[in-house]
Amino acid sequence: MAVQPILGLDIGTSRIKFVEVRGDRGGLRVTGAGIGLTPRDSIANGVIVDPAALGAAVRQLLDQYGIKTKAVISSVASQSSLVVRPIEVPRMTRQELAQTMQWEVERHIPFAASEVVMDFEPLVDPDALPPEAQNMDVLLAVAQEDMINAHVETLLEAGLDPQAVDVEPLSACRSLIDINRDRGAYDQTYALLNVGATTTDLSVIRGGLLSFTRPVPLAGDNITNAIAEALGYEFHEAERVKLEEAAIYLDGAAGADRPQLPGETAPAADEGLTMPTTPDAGEQAPPTKVFDLDQEAQAEQAAPEPPPAAGEEEQSAEPVLPVVRTPGAGSTARQVYEALLPTAVELVSEVRRSVEYYSSRFPEARVDRILLFGGTGKLPNLAEFLANEVGIPVEVGDPFQRVEVEGDAVAPEIVDADKCLMPVAVGLAIRDLME
Ligand SMILES: Nc1ncnc2c1ncn2[C@@H]1O[C@H](COP(=O)(O)OP(=O)(O)OP(=O)(O)O)[C@@H](O)[C@H]1O
Ligand SMILES: [Mg+2]
Repeated sequence: MAVQPILGLDIGTSRIKFVEVRGDRGGLRVTGAGIGLTPRDSIANGVIVDPAALGAAVRQLLDQYGIKTKAVISSVASQSSLVVRPIEVPRMTRQELAQTMQWEVERHIPFAASEVVMDFEPLVDPDALPPEAQNMDVLLAVAQEDMINAHVETLLEAGLDPQAVDVEPLSACRSLIDINRDRGAYDQTYALLNVGATTTDLSVIRGGLLSFTRPVPLAGDNITNAIAEALGYEFHEAERVKLEEAAIYLDGAAGADRPQLPGETAPAADEGLTMPTTPDAGEQAPPTKVFDLDQEAQAEQAAPEPPPAAGEEEQSAEPVLPVVRTPGAGSTARQVYEALLPTAVELVSEVRRSVEYYSSRFPEARVDRILLFGGTGKLPNLAEFLANEVGIPVEVGDPFQRVEVEGDAVAPEIVDADKCLMPVAVGLAIRDLME
């Protein structure tokens, strides 16, 4: 096993995330980690347009943490110029596959096939397929060449030594699922839900294999924009207010007393709850009006209980439990909540539709659990809201569960409040260190 440290670098449209990991006989050890802001305008529509500025920002972030390691594995996100998709092709040998994929690729990408970089991998080794199998599943990854070049240029500008460029769902799968395979993670079907700033990605991992991907066209920036519009703020001001005040209040969101959305006939929450995707889904995530903050230390930290609304009656029938109540009318928190709710409901409905679509296509492999991550996963109570609406348990992804973290070198908030920003970066760093 390699003992040289390696960097995992996840350059998002809003935040740059890195971890430094060392692999030795004792396991995987995180010896550095940090989060910085992506320079505005260095990434447009998911594509790096200013490698010099972005590379300098990466270098500055690494310098700030005293990181000397140069070997880096990074990821490419961009929904507009990258396609990662499992496809089905007739059964064939690896050599035949290599030829076929040159032609197959055109059918699966929304951009010209002339200048692309592609890779593929059979999901099951063709030699190991059952004799009666007529078809086989292959994971296809295609990126626009320009996009990859700009990405590598950025890494070089940052003085780094790129070892590999990987894709996000596979990286997150490594740090959240593969690492737990000794605990039965491959017996389950997970939906990895990465809610970032500009993109949300849903990837279903079944038996440890990526079996379905779907982009959802809503993420953190949409929430910020909704707040900006409603409160008359500039984007950056709305972003600041979002980080300070935004939360989903379950008494309003899951019940009939949440603000009615424009054009809404029935509350989306009820719609979701009456359409469980599995017979026992309702039992797994019952609708709840009372939310026990004690059970969710993280949510409690991120969302101190709002002050009781002036003149509002105590709504809880169980006075011992703290209740996440919608803040009083007129408060900034209430305005922010009302501004973001339609976007949050739409996002969650999109996720529910995608999960339902997957369940109808693969009824034998229903999604057991959603692993929520990405910075928007920090939005207080989003996980609980999602569980209520989709009817499937939702867990906030923690990539530090099975790795050793050097306490002196890694700030405590990275492994606590900010852990949901880190699954991709950790998964990149451990790419060649596992097994
Ligand atoms: N406490 C919070 N509440 C709500 N949103 C938050 C919070 N903290 C961070 N965010 C949001 O998380 C997003 C950043 O997350 P992340 O770093 O995963 O995105 P990214 O990787 O830069 O974006 P993308 O993957 O779309 O390119 C921003 O939209 C930010 O506003
Ligand atoms: Mg991201």
